[in-house]
Amino acid sequence: MKNIMVTGGCGFIGANFIRYLLSESDFTGNVINVDSLTYAGNPENVADIEERYQDRYLFIKADICDMAGMNRTFGKHEIDTICNFAAESHVDRSIVAPDAFIQTNIVGTFNLLEAARSQQNRMIRFHHISTDEVYGSLGKDGYFTETTPYKPNSPYSASKASSDHLVRAYYKTYDLPITISNCSNNYGPYQFPEKLIPLMILNALEGKPLPVYGDGRHVRDWLYVRDHCTAIWTIMKNGRIGEMYNIGGDSEMENIAIVKMICDILDEMNELSNNRSRRELITFVKDRPGHDRRYAIDFTKLNKELNWRPEASLETGIRDTIQWYVDNKKWVERVKSGEYRQWIKTHYA
Ligand code: NAD
Ligand code: DAU
Repeated sequence: MKNIMVTGGCGFIGANFIRYLLSESDFTGNVINVDSLTYAGNPENVADIEERYQDRYLFIKADICDMAGMNRTFGKHEIDTICNFAAESHVDRSIVAPDAFIQTNIVGTFNLLEAARSQQNRMIRFHHISTDEVYGSLGKDGYFTETTPYKPNSPYSASKASSDHLVRAYYKTYDLPITISNCSNNYGPYQFPEKLIPLMILNALEGKPLPVYGDGRHVRDWLYVRDHCTAIWTIMKNGRIGEMYNIGGDSEMENIAIVKMICDILDEMNELSNNRSRRELITFVKDRPGHDRRYAIDFTKLNKELNWRPEASLETGIRDTIQWYVDNKKWVERVKSGEYRQWIKTHYA
């Protein structure tokens, strides 16, 4: 692999992956980060990388829905590998406004597949990042495996399921060298504060209400983003072509328990005024429509075939994440105030 195109590299997981690839992994080639900079795309997430790896890192502001643009980029930069993170990623937004999800997640992925197919002789790997949400919801017991039938419940998960099917079809029909990974809920540095964990950390720091949907007993399997990055790179290097791999954090927890954990860690670090416990900020609010009850991942295949397992425990991962948000006040302020959007507007006018 010489020239890896990472799409969505200014978002949460993509930025962490680029950082891992260039500064911690054994990859020695170039990274071409293609991102259209939606509300979730923040070039500041990779600003230090751009500075440090000027000879191996290139950012291109482009939309994966622009097929001609994708074809040009593939040719000009001799792309031989792609890792496709670019997506609309937030379930609540997909319920309110599904259109962009259909465009980016389905049409955008299709464009990348076509660009890769048109230059197939050079393609080493098309790795597609997907989600456990394609499998739908679990009851109290059981786990998602790679053979669990797809049963998506939100416009977001339906659009991701659709893109997975397209990727798989390009392998079956055109022999495109693909792999797909379906992972559970990520958390860690640089996550946009619309998702549960960063939202709760930032609200709790400010003494604001902590909105928990429904009864708060929905379960997610939390995966520290660095563990996700090591899993992706392992699959890209050694995963079998045409295969899907599930990635999980081995850390199932009810939402209410994770919110209480965040409250307690923050109380330990600095107390709210009047000695109030942050747990008092927890506010149960109306449930999300179609809210999946439980996700849990069986990652035996990835463990047995490629010897991967997550390193972070939920407790250490959450502590490190809280510390990151506390230490990176400037990033938080610029994201919350929208200043980073202003910068993008002037920089890419
Ligand atoms: P994110 O919302 O933080 O980032 C998405 C990035 O994609 C942004 O930088 C955005 O600007 C870019 N983007 C969006 N539309 C684009 C377009 N049309 N063209 C080019 N770039 C575009 O998302 P994330 O949480 O980092 O998720 C990354 C991937 O991982 C997604 O495919 C998501 O479905 C998947 N995933 C996420 C999680 C999670 O817990 N966050 C879990 C499982 C799978
Ligand atoms: O499982 C993988 C998926 O995880 C990814 O594919 C998605 O891109 C990612 O956004 C995430 O989806 P979720 O819907 O599970 O994540 P979110 O952080 O939005 O919510 C986590 C849980 O917390 C979910 O049960 C809803 C609940 N929640 C969320 C928010 C934002 C609340 O109770 N209150 C909130 O304010």
